[in-house]
Amino acid sequence: MALLLKPVTFFGGKGGVGKTTVAAAAALASADSGQRTLLVSTDPAHSTADILEAPLTSEPTEVAPDLDALEIDPQEEADRYIAGVKARVREVTSPGMLAEVEREIDVARAAPGAHEAALFDRFADLMALAGAAYDRVIFDTAPTGHTIRLLGLPELMQAWVDGLVSRRRKLSSLGRMWRRVAGAAAAPERHDEDPVLAALERRQARFRRAREIVTDPERTAFWFVVVPERLPILETARALDALERYAIPVGGIVVNRVLPEAADGEFLARRRERETEYLTRIMTELAGHPMIRIDMRSSDVVGLAALRGLLG
Ligand SMILES: Nc1ncnc2c1ncn2[C@@H]1O[C@H](COP(=O)(O)OP(=O)(O)OP(=O)(O)O)[C@@H](O)[C@H]1O
Ligand SMILES: [Mg+2]
Repeated sequence: MALLLKPVTFFGGKGGVGKTTVAAAAALASADSGQRTLLVSTDPAHSTADILEAPLTSEPTEVAPDLDALEIDPQEEADRYIAGVKARVREVTSPGMLAEVEREIDVARAAPGAHEAALFDRFADLMALAGAAYDRVIFDTAPTGHTIRLLGLPELMQAWVDGLVSRRRKLSSLGRMWRRVAGAAAAPERHDEDPVLAALERRQARFRRAREIVTDPERTAFWFVVVPERLPILETARALDALERYAIPVGGIVVNRVLPEAADGEFLARRRERETEYLTRIMTELAGHPMIRIDMRSSDVVGLAALRGLLG
């Protein structure tokens, strides 16, 4: 059973199960088959750089023929996003209004959803590269809950943007009232003449487009990495439900770190008994999806040669 990659492929799963390793191995296999591939990591611990043995930044760096990789730092992304919003707003806001508008943006930055909005914004840009600058874009995501929440956008974003829009509307109608009282010309009545509202609405449209890609089974697949242990299985089962709710297509399940047949000794025999139980649970509780299996290696998987050996 091969790991079938779509133009946009996500790898998710519980902490420590091997997401980064499997995503890197899949990206390398994709590049080796002649597909221009971009590997995107959101791991704040920089494990992708460690595994590929290459320094990475937030922009694509070539790590092998046809393989580029980059690392996104969610905090940095949020800061950059807010700075970008401020810069755009500065261009279109009169100096008198600027302090008020910047205050508004700072309020928005602290609002729930702002971090996700920033990260999602970057994801949206990177997803759009699949089928353009790259044949495939592969995301190594942070542990399950967060990522799926992120992909469940724009429902979540909608709430955030709606909050901003209604706050903005209130402010501009207040402004209008005051200007009328002061006898000045009436402020714009239509949203699209309000640069902040217009920017928010563009954002909404962008989220919608990204959501279209994420829910299209021709274009996107979400793969889970799981190990034969209790908690990762439970978490993956829950995550599968969530993906279904959000209509995000599941690519399949990678069962990682399975004791190899050749491993022997009494200790391992006992471990294998437990493992067999969990493997059975995986087959039943996570049934209905393609599954591939990766044996546990005797040491950590580091470097291109080790990665090439991983998916067989
Ligand atoms: N099949 C395997 N055999 C042996 N070691 C493995 C295997 N798969 C992964 N590992 C090792 O397990 C450790 C964790 O892997 P990895 O960093 O890929 O997990 P992760 O799910 O990305 O973790 P995190 O949730 O912290 O991002 C690494 O040291 C990696 O080398
Ligand atoms: Mg990782």
